[in-house]
Order: sequence, then C-alpha cells, then structure tokens
Amino acid sequence: MNAAAPPPPSVAEAHDRARRRGFVASSDSVVGPLLAVLAGAVPDGGRVLEIGTGCGAGAAWLAHGVAGRDVQIISVEQDADLARESSAAVPDAVEVLAADIGEALPGLGSFDLVFADAEGGKWTGFAQTRDAVRPGGVLVLDDMDVSRYTSDEHRRTVARVLDDIRQDQRFLVAELAAGSGIVLATRLRSTEAV
Ligand SMILES: C[S@@+](CC[C@H](N)C(=O)[O-])C[C@H]1O[C@@H](n2cnc3c(N)ncnc32)[C@H](O)[C@@H]1O
Repeated sequence: MNAAAPPPPSVAEAHDRARRRGFVASSDSVVGPLLAVLAGAVPDGGRVLEIGTGCGAGAAWLAHGVAGRDVQIISVEQDADLARESSAAVPDAVEVLAADIGEALPGLGSFDLVFADAEGGKWTGFAQTRDAVRPGGVLVLDDMDVSRYTSDEHRRTVARVLDDIRQDQRFLVAELAAGSGIVLATRLRSTEAV
C-alpha cells in the first residue's frame, strides 16, 4: 500500500462513520499512512497506544500497518458513547478503552509507538505521555502547525508542547511541515552523546 493508493476499507468506513456523526477531527490522509508505516515497524510482541480514538480512522491505519501480527493496539477515548461505537467498528486488532488518558495511562505501561491525538495526553499531561514511550519507541504528534490556530491560547499551548519535546533530551525530534503539522520523536536507547 502506498500513499497514492486508496485507503484500506476499514479507514474508509471510519471516515463514513465520522461523516454520519458530524465528527470533523479524524486523522487526515497524510498522517494515516505514516501511522501504518510506523506500526509496521513495531516488533512482534510490541505495543501501540493511540490517545483519542475518535471515529477510528487512526486505529484503522494502525491495524492496517500491524497486519495481523502479534502487536497489541490500545486506543483510549474519553467520550463513552464514541468509545462504544468505535469499539464495535474498528478492526479486531484494536482494543478501545473508554477512559480519560490522564487517569488511564499510569496503569497501561509503556509502548513502542504512541500516537497522541487528543487534548489529554498532548495539550495537557504531555510529560506522562513522553514517559510512556519505551526506549527505541516512537511518539507521533499531529496538529502541531502553530499557524493553523487562531486563538492566542491555542498557539501558546502548541508552542509549549513543541518546546517540551525539543527540550526533552531523551528524544530525537523531527518536525514535518506536512498535513496539519506532524512531529515525530524517537526515544533514544541511550542518552550518551555519540
Ligand atoms: C483528534 S480526535 C482523534 C482522532 C483519531 N485519533 C483519528 O485518528 O481519527 C480527538 C479525540 O480525543 C478524545 N479525547 C480528548 N481528550 C481525551 C482524553 N483526555 N482522554 C481520552 N480521549 C480524549 C476526543 O473525545 C476525540 O474523540
């Protein structure tokens, strides 16, 4: 599958559910294939976390990338109704938890891939999210283009999160001017300079 190909049916179904529900915050066609590519690199026995299930577009891309291998995918959604609907609809590889990530994350352990795509765990509680990435693991942040935000408060929040990840010496960071602004960060296996 490449970015020019049509999305897998599970992704198209997630976008259909979002349209029916009037949900406008689904992952776009830039970050989605990237999630699949990164999920494909998670080792067998590994773990993936999505923060913010929404209507399941990101979850469907993650499951597509894992492609039936032994990789656990957990997606956390604080809206109980949305969590119930998405849980029933996303690929079986994804376990949807109805919870606030701030409360759930301390009990979830660590992950090889974390897609932080909700207010909780990104705009708030970001330190906890960074801690949940295993050494060698990758963190994906979407909607990081500061210029997209009209309110000063939002711009300050995004700038603070960017600053936090840039300053965190445990991570190697790439800022991509793609889609709505994507940040990729790998948690180093060793923090010794080479
Ligand atoms: C941008 S949407 C997620 C889109 C989805 N990841 C995708 O790829 O299509 C953000 C979602 O995060 C949920 N959310 C917001 N704060 C949360 C929190 N503290 N814990 C869990 N979910 C949260 C919202 O209810 C919303 O459904």
